[in-house]
Formats: sequence, structure tokens, C-alpha cells
Amino acid sequence: MMVTGPSPYSVQIVKDIDAKGGNVVDALVAGALELAVTHPYYGALGGGGFALVKINGEKTALDFREMAPKSANPDTYKDKDAKASLTGGLAVGVPGVPSGLYELHKKYGKLKWAQVVEPARLLAEKGFEVSGEWVKLTTRNHDRFTKDGQEIFFPKNQNLKPGDTLKQPQLAKFLKRYQKEGAKAFYEGANAREIVDVVNQTGGAFTTDDLKNYKVRWLKPMMTKFMGYDVSLMPPPSSGGVVIAQALKLVEKTKLVEKTQPLSVDEFHGLIEIEKLSYRNRSQLGDPDFAKNPTDDLLKDEALDKLASMIKPDKAIKSASLLTAEEKQTIENAAKEKAETTHMSVMDSQGNTIAMTVTLNGDYGSGLVTKSGIALNNEMDDFTTHPGKPNMFGLIQGEANAVRAGARPLSSMSPTIVEKDGQTVLSLGSPGGPRIISAVFQVIYRSLARNLDVDVAIQSPRVHHQFLPDQVKTDANKLPPESIEGLKAKGHSVDFSSTAKVYAIRRSSDGMLSAAADARGEGAAGGH
Ligand code: GLY
Repeated sequence: MMVTGPSPYSVQIVKDIDAKGGNVVDALVAGALELAVTHPYYGALGGGGFALVKINGEKTALDFREMAPKSANPDTYKDKDAKASLTGGLAVGVPGVPSGLYELHKKYGKLKWAQVVEPARLLAEKGFEVSGEWVKLTTRNHDRFTKDGQEIFFPKNQNLKPGDTLKQPQLAKFLKRYQKEGAKAFYEGANAREIVDVVNQTGGAFTTDDLKNYKVRWLKPMMTKFMGYDVSLMPPPSSGGVVIAQALKLVEKTKLVEKTQPLSVDEFHGLIEIEKLSYRNRSQLGDPDFAKNPTDDLLKDEALDKLASMIKPDKAIKSASLLTAEEKQTIENAAKEKAETTHMSVMDSQGNTIAMTVTLNGDYGSGLVTKSGIALNNEMDDFTTHPGKPNMFGLIQGEANAVRAGARPLSSMSPTIVEKDGQTVLSLGSPGGPRIISAVFQVIYRSLARNLDVDVAIQSPRVHHQFLPDQVKTDANKLPPESIEGLKAKGHSVDFSSTAKVYAIRRSSDGMLSAAADARGEGAAGGH
């Protein structure tokens, strides 16, 4: 069994769970809970996520995305500035992680629930060594934290250094209750009241019923074919599946593999144009319980042929040329970003696998930390809080993603599984807000269309274009200067910043596993 994800602790935990007879879901749940202890800025129980699971040939998708509280409505943020959906109580959606992990285990787990929670509880009680990433992200959030957050993450008012040990006795206590009671420990009783208190004292409007009524959704994975492979993707409320499926189809329709050399300017240009056109329609998507998603229309051959015909080898399409007159008037084109999400995949040699992406949205989410040491998300910013205006990721969102009580905000998280003739080939995903989609797309492309091994496919330079802003983002120091000049000569505006962090496991036809973590940040891959 192998794992890839952001934390070195998870490799040992997964090996231990494997040795005890646990399956990939037991291993992933134990690993995800470990992240809640060691990586609270994105792995916390106060967030949400998605998982794609393949067990004994059966595939399912789990949506444990945060949900808007009953008090939320399309005008919640109307007269408020952009900060209201980023920091404080109004930024928080009802968390889904504690229920998601519990339901995953209930449906698929082999070990006892208490056994899969135990490694995380021990790390909270006995302490773990904080990393450079932990110190950077925690320090920069000091002033956003509630008093409990400051006391927990800055013990005795000190800044921890990489390698220092942090104990979290309050979280260990909560995890003990979670071991005994399951998801109820989070959504009812003292913990639910703690959450309601901290949210409502900082401008939000939660009730204990908002927590009690939280439910995960089991969904059918979205399927597409790419060069003879079967790709299982996350359906709405993630936009990831739809956009990746469009992009993969456009690779085929534009004959990118046949017409360009790997890592050439022409290939990067083609990838950029494909991404630009695939992201164009993201704003039409939303929670399927509240909006009708035009998924079938977007993936129709005629629609894709039209997009493919727009791509020219020598000239970048200007995003503004595709905007309607109304959009031109209302859309504010600006980019900002700062995001914290993470991904973990586990696979065994039979090809059973789970790919899970979780997030608090921004690092440490809303800045609210409960008395138990649980950081709460700021996922409400993923809704269309201010129509026509870019959100934290520079994304302009649409009506389908309006703020509504009980709805889940549109996401870009894209846990993905690839198979060939029923055999598992890849399990992957990434953090990075909208950059998740372009990163997962390009790693699938490099692995399957260019036959690179999983590590090289991940570490290769990537380009990101999300339609608006009309700008290519690429990793500084990965593309040679002549490639940048080549892209500019075709009319692209190029900006440098890192482009997501992909974690992937590949399985060969004889059952050999190879796992890799992106060298763009901290991470670990291992197992046997
Ligand atoms: N919070 C980022 C996303 O879900 O896309």
C-alpha cells in the first residue's frame, strides 16, 4: 500500500494501518486525521472536501463540502466589503470533514473506528514536530486568530521554530470523544455549541441545527475517456470534473500530441489555450441541488469542436474577445490569491484506491479557532458573494453559485482516478484553488499522453490560465527564458508564481506502485 500527501507522518501511519489489516480507506482516514493535527492550516476538521473511491471495482464519489448555514442568502455579503467572506464568523460554512471521514469509514473501513482515529489522537497528545511550512503559515496568521488560536498555536506566547514540538491536549480530548461517538462528537453537544459561539461572537449567524443537519452526499463520479483511458472525476459542486473533461477532450480534438513536441513553446501555447477555453464556462456551474449544470451541453462534440477550431498555433486568444457586452461592463478583472488546500491518495497493489482533497479555503480559513483547537474554514468566499467581482482566487463567479441557505459553494478540488480496461492506473489530486484543475489536467496529460513516469510528470513545468485574468501563471525557474519569450511572442502575458502541488500514485499493469509528491512544497510519498 502506498500513500502520497503533504505529511511525512502519514507514510508511517499508512504502513501501520496496512500491517494491522486495514484497507486503503482506513489508511486514508487515519492519514487525513493526522493532517488535522499536524497541518491545521488546511487539514483541519473545520473544513470540507471531496473523495473518489475505488474499492473492489466499485467507484463512488463523496461530497463532504461545507454547507451555507440557514441564515445565508444571496444578499448576505451585498453591502459588506470583501473581507466579510474571508475572516470572521460570516466567512464560515458548516464543516464537512468530520462527517466525511466518518461516513467513508462506515461504508468501506475494515478496522474499528477507534483504531483509525488513534494515530492522530496520539500525535495531538504527545506532540509532533512542526515544519517550516507550519511555522510560515501559522506565524502569518497570528493576528487573524481568535484568542484560543493564539494560545494553542503560540504556546506561552512564543513563536515555534521548525523542529519544535507542539502538543494539542484540547484537540486530543476532542479526538477521544470522536473515537467514542463518531461524527456526533463534532456536530452535537459541547463541540457544536463551541462552534456556534465562536462564529456568532465574530459576526456570523449559526445555530446548533446548522451543525446537526449537516449531511454528506454520495455521488456518481463523472466519467470521461482520454486516449483509451477511463478517467473518473469529481462532479459538481466541484467544477474540476467538467473543466478537466473539456480540457482532455480538447487535447484530442486539437491533436496536441501529434502536432507539438513535449515541453516546447507550441505545446505550452496549446495547453494554455485549452485551459483558457475550458475555464471559460466554469462560471455556469454550481451546487446541483440548487442550479441546473449545463454539463452535457459543455461536453457535446459540437461544442468542443467549436472551441477546438478557435485555437490557433501562433496567436493567443484574448479573453476579453470572448466576453459578452454585459460581462464587459460588469466584470472587474483582478487577481489576488492565497490558498490552502491539500490532497492525499492511497492505493494498494490490487488497484483499490482513494483520492481525497480537503480544504479550509484560505490558510487557517476564517482565522477562527475553537476552544478544542479546530480551525474553521472561510469557504463562503467560494460562493458568488459579489457578482462580477473576483474572489480570493481572481475567479468571477456566476448566478448558479449564488449564496443560498443549505447550498455548497462551487469548488475546483479535483480528486481523480484513471483506469485502463478496468485496471487502476493513476490516483491523484492537488491543492491550489483554480490551479488545481490545470495542474491535475497537465499531470494526467504528461503521464498518459507523453508517457512520463509519475514523478517527472509532476515535477515538469506547468502553465495555468483560468480565462480571467487573461494571464498565464507559471513556476518561476522551471521554464527556460526562451520559452517565456516564445509565449510572449504569441501574445501571452506571463506571470510567475507556483502552480499547485500535485500528489499522485501510478500503478503498472503488473501491480507495481510508484508514488510521488510535488517538489514545489513539503510532502512525502512512500509505502510498499
Ligand atoms: N476552496 C477552494 C476550492 O474549493 O476550490
